[in-house]
Amino acid sequence: MLFDTDFPVWLSPMEDVTNPPFRRLCKRMGADVVVTEFVPTDAVIRNVAHSLKKFDFDESERPLGIQIYGHLEDAMVEGARLAAAAKPDFIDINWGCPVKKIAGRGAGSGIFKDIPKMLRITEQIVKAVDVPVTVKTRLGWDEQSKVIVEVAERLQDVGINALSIHGRTRAQLYTGEADWTLIGEVKNNPYMYIPIYGNGDIKTPERVAEVKQRYNVDGVLVGRASIGNPWIFREIKHYLQTGDKLPSPTHQERLDICRQHLLDVIEWKGLKKGISQMRQHYSNYFHSIPYFKPLRIELLRATELDHILEIFDRIADFLESSDPASILSHSSD
Ligand SMILES: Cc1cc2nc3c(=O)[nH]c(=O)nc-3n(C[C@H](O)[C@H](O)[C@H](O)COP(=O)(O)O)c2cc1C
Repeated sequence: MLFDTDFPVWLSPMEDVTNPPFRRLCKRMGADVVVTEFVPTDAVIRNVAHSLKKFDFDESERPLGIQIYGHLEDAMVEGARLAAAAKPDFIDINWGCPVKKIAGRGAGSGIFKDIPKMLRITEQIVKAVDVPVTVKTRLGWDEQSKVIVEVAERLQDVGINALSIHGRTRAQLYTGEADWTLIGEVKNNPYMYIPIYGNGDIKTPERVAEVKQRYNVDGVLVGRASIGNPWIFREIKHYLQTGDKLPSPTHQERLDICRQHLLDVIEWKGLKKGISQMRQHYSNYFHSIPYFKPLRIELLRATELDHILEIFDRIADFLESSDPASILSHSSD
């Protein structure tokens, strides 16, 4: 078994999101498995500092995977070796990224244009490293080439330890709805024995229970629904264990966690990048707070830490007083 947990719920790898502070936060909230942001192997072998930094993690994050991507065979294998030297619990190969500048070069989901190369690189990585190797991928290149059932067999043949499948093709990018039927076909293929983890549009604990039951997957990956909402992991775990829904986090808890998350990301990424990376989290953190709308734009535009903390203070005042004036007044007007 790759992980101790029966039905692991993963924090899906996301660039500029699944940095160490967010991974630790999700772990505290119940995520069973976390993965780094994807790391470009061509930069790693050239010793590019900000890419190497993405290998960093701490012990509390285990089990943790380092995800790598690239299109150059030698760089992928050498990059995997360097990643393994950081002693993660596993290496995850990204054969799923749909972004044009990545897939267009044959990395990420671009590898569906050359499946023999995908198998060759994957096999070499399996042989080169002394930790388990997993793959994260999509259904295929486009509607006419949903080849995942066969590709999954071949990936298993070259020795990967588990496979995560996002139920979209490359051509779909993030549009439409994730199609879980082919994920279920891979899982229920009698030839397959490695764990199959499903991914795509998981937004509620009920949906996790449904895909578990209907498609028989060995676990799920939660991506976008965790942004500004790390509580989703404890909600899913609780629901799977008890069939009951946990109450949503309080406004105060949302504010406290968001404030700490911001400070931790700034410590990790530096002031400017930290402030910018946090912007994608605010809407979800605060969506349920009355009168948040007018503050949203102000928060998204704020470039100074003091200004952001002052907005948080206004939210805190409002939570105490329930007086809309406290949220709307702007001390620096
Ligand atoms: C902002 C963002 C960054 C992402 N970065 C990565 C990445 O680095 N590696 C990866 O395998 N997938 C990446 N993904 C894809 C997610 O891991 C996941 O497969 C996808 O969002 C579908 O799951 P969801 O519907 O739960 O979000 C990214 C997705 C988003 C929205």
